[in-house]
Amino acid sequence: MTDKQLAVIVLAAGAGTRMKSATPKVLHRLAGVSLIGHVLNTARAVEPEHVLVVLRHERQSVAEHVLEIDEDVIIVDQDEIPGTGRAVEQALDALPADFSGSVAILSGDVPLFDGRTLGKLIDAHDESQACLSIVSTKVSHPFGFGRILRDADGRIQGIVEEKDATDEQRLIHEINAGIYIADAKKLKDSLSKIGTENAQQEKYLTDAVASLQSGQEPVVAFELEDSWLAAGINDRVQLSELATELNRRIVQKWQRAGVTIQDPATTWIDQTVTLSQDVEILPNTQILGASVIDSHAVIGPETTLRDTEVGEGARVIRTDATLSVIGAHSTVGPFAYLRPGTYLDEGGKIGTFVETKNARIGQGSKVPHLSYVGDAHIGTNTNIGAGTIFANYDGMNKHHSHVGDNTKTGAHNTFVAPVNVGNEVYTAAGTIVRKDIQDGALGMTVAAQKNIDGWVEKNRPPKKQ
Ligand code: UD1
Ligand code: CA
Repeated sequence: MTDKQLAVIVLAAGAGTRMKSATPKVLHRLAGVSLIGHVLNTARAVEPEHVLVVLRHERQSVAEHVLEIDEDVIIVDQDEIPGTGRAVEQALDALPADFSGSVAILSGDVPLFDGRTLGKLIDAHDESQACLSIVSTKVSHPFGFGRILRDADGRIQGIVEEKDATDEQRLIHEINAGIYIADAKKLKDSLSKIGTENAQQEKYLTDAVASLQSGQEPVVAFELEDSWLAAGINDRVQLSELATELNRRIVQKWQRAGVTIQDPATTWIDQTVTLSQDVEILPNTQILGASVIDSHAVIGPETTLRDTEVGEGARVIRTDATLSVIGAHSTVGPFAYLRPGTYLDEGGKIGTFVETKNARIGQGSKVPHLSYVGDAHIGTNTNIGAGTIFANYDGMNKHHSHVGDNTKTGAHNTFVAPVNVGNEVYTAAGTIVRKDIQDGALGMTVAAQKNIDGWVEKNRPPKKQ
């Protein structure tokens, strides 16, 4: 990389009409990251002096999102003149007056063009001494893209948009990726001379190519072998195609790093996830957000983890977990629902048809069957009986309960919060615990069972055949 000044402009002012969405196009997500989030990561990877994002459509919500990701971004508002050329022109105007150097232009809707490739583009551009380098690639279905026009010697003459192209030009397979690097001053001069006389009545950035070329300023192409890096998203078909491709790449990255993934086609891993060597992922599993999985953990089948940490050697089967911590060597599921604030310590268990929320379950403690644990703290080596409910909500407020260490609660208990159960306690089956239980005591609800002789004969007489 050079010591020349560098600015990166991200174009994101377009309406994204083809998405048919109330959500601005660049806020749609791919592998857990917004489209514009991917592009901002690419921009930051080359450590430019300035990053500028051009906005117009849904300006407010996109600007908020952009500044949340990177508060140093300069937001540029595009005026009513439409087109990528106008967007770049206004971004160049927003650069500090003393800026002199190169400007890289990225599209907010081309998310797979990564920082490493941008770095290579910058280096190639500096070496070529060109005024403008265009990222191009050859695709089998060039429909919708601008086509690269070259002369007999292969020199670039210009770019023609699909809508302005002749039938002959439409046969060209080399397309414009919409990513460029240029000398800022020369590009600015050239843009000031461009009009909007074209099929879309827009000021095309692509018209700068022919204008520079005819003014003897060299324009070159940086041709990508891997066309996916240039793939743009204009509609939801392309969004899912790119999501599949990016996921395939993420899965392969982890497989190469020593993760066993049985069924890549049904395993979805966000870009923001961290896995360790010898993790095993079984089919139909989604690992999302800031989830972190430690080595030898086995996840799935049919499991969704969002922002969840899983410790070494844990086993998580048919589970849905959000903002939870699953300790080392613990087991969860099948059919467990871990809501935010669940913390299962080492060697613990959250079993079948168990829902937890804001619950701390201590080392070696188990909630094996058919239970709800909400707003509770359970100590170490305690066993919660089948079918237990922590009744945390009185209809107005939520309350917290506490169960101590080495305690065994009977089946079908209800803990009416707030209540404190001590250490080494037993509770009988069917107990409704409304009062605290002291260490070493047995808690039981005393309601003697009554068996009424002959009740059936009298009240539900069997039908005579
Ligand atoms: C553009 C290129 C085309 C290229 C393709 C690659 C032009 C004229 N055409 O076409 O050659 O093959 O990208 O994906 O540049 N934008 C603005 N302001 C505007 C219009 C668009 O900021 O006034 C932004 C959009 O938000 C988007 C990007 O620029 O992020 C590209 O705009 P889009 O309308 O998608 O251009 P394409 O028709 O795809
Ligand atoms: Ca586009």
